[in-house]
Amino acid sequence: MSAQSSPARPPARLVVVISGRGRNLEAIIQAIDAGQLNARIDLVISNRKTAGGLRIARLADLPCAVVEPRAFTRREDFDHALAARIAAESPDWVVLAGYMRILGSAFVQRFQGRLVNIHPSLLPRHKGLNTHARALANGDARHGASVHFVTADLDAGPLIRQGSIAIRAEDTPETLADRLMTRVEQRLYPAALVDLADARVQWREHRVWRDGRTQEHCPHEDYDTPTNR
Ligand code: GRF
Repeated sequence: MSAQSSPARPPARLVVVISGRGRNLEAIIQAIDAGQLNARIDLVISNRKTAGGLRIARLADLPCAVVEPRAFTRREDFDHALAARIAAESPDWVVLAGYMRILGSAFVQRFQGRLVNIHPSLLPRHKGLNTHARALANGDARHGASVHFVTADLDAGPLIRQGSIAIRAEDTPETLADRLMTRVEQRLYPAALVDLADARVQWREHRVWRDGRTQEHCPHEDYDTPTNR
């Protein structure tokens, strides 16, 4: 990771929200442990008790919680319970890392400005699911990931950082997804969190600010070389 957090500030307090394997969570933990990201994870919260990411969190001795949708009849009640558990930690940043449910507008509004997500495509291309197959079907030359602030519009919030790799002729959705995860996502999310933890990037007055100026174009890094994490 090229960016490095400034240790002068108190560590940014994160709540990481997951549903699945937790490879992004793992990369964030490693960046913190390596002293690259000046942050601490106060809670990992999952909507699935079988999420592999919970094992990663427990191995790292992180506090975990599970809030399952089936315990609620109405979606808003689930969202409210999830939001209340997150708010109890008073996090600086709510980090969606492979959280696979759509959040209601009340949840998004409650954390707006400090709610971020990683999406496996070069937004605004390929919003929604099956991004790898769609990038291949579309004949794209490159595929990437985007870290963005979350708004009520699905996968349309203001961008913080993007990264990409070249698509290969022999790629399948699976090989492309794997390479995107290890080469791009696991480097991009920690780098974006360094921007936020160091207060270099904010979203206010309907604009993204980077280093005190309006960010016209978000940084985009080519990650074609293998990771050396
Ligand atoms: C990642 O590809 C992320 O971009 C998407 O879901 C996947 C989660 O993977 N939103 P993991 O749980 O971090 O391994």
